[in-house]
Amino acid sequence: MKKSTMVRYKKLLVQVIFVSIISIFLMYCESPTDSKFNPPSDHAINKNGAMHKSGLNLPLENCVTCHGSNLRGGDSGGSCYECHSKKW
Ligand code: HEC
Ligand code: HEC
Repeated sequence: MKKSTMVRYKKLLVQVIFVSIISIFLMYCESPTDSKFNPPSDHAINKNGAMHKSGLNLPLENCVTCHGSNLRGGDSGGSCYECHSKKW
């Protein structure tokens, strides 16, 4: 096998591994029964085990102060995209 072909196969392998890891990560987030987050007590709305703060349907008004202006994670709260993929 030519060397350049080998290099191409290695790149492909790296990409496949990368995509697999992302998929496993997303699958895990689909059912966050064992969430790694530790939200404050005002997060009282339980959505399949993930505690949401009230006003969750207007996140751009109610959640940005802690979860970041684009909801991808801010000073204290994590990213909503950890569990929600393309909702926003
Ligand atoms: C005053 C700051 C603050 C505001 C405002 C806030 N959050 Fe949070 N939120 C946090 C913190 C802190 C965490 C925990 C982050 C961690 O443990 O890394 C958290 C975690 C979460 C989690 C993960 C909980 C779990 O059980 O896994 C969800 C879901 C969440 N917030 C939803 C919301 C929603 C929806 C809003 C708006 C309606 C909101 N938050 C507004 C601070 C806030
Ligand atoms: C730890 C995982 C997790 C995090 C982080 C998270 N959510 Fe959720 N969220 C869920 C789950 C699980 C549900 C319930 C299943 C569903 O409706 O998709 C849900 C449901 C919702 C719903 C209701 C959807 C409906 O149709 O009833 C809204 C709105 C929402 N989340 C907003 C947010 C916002 C805003 C943030 C960030 C501040 C956030 N979520 C962060 C897991 C999470």
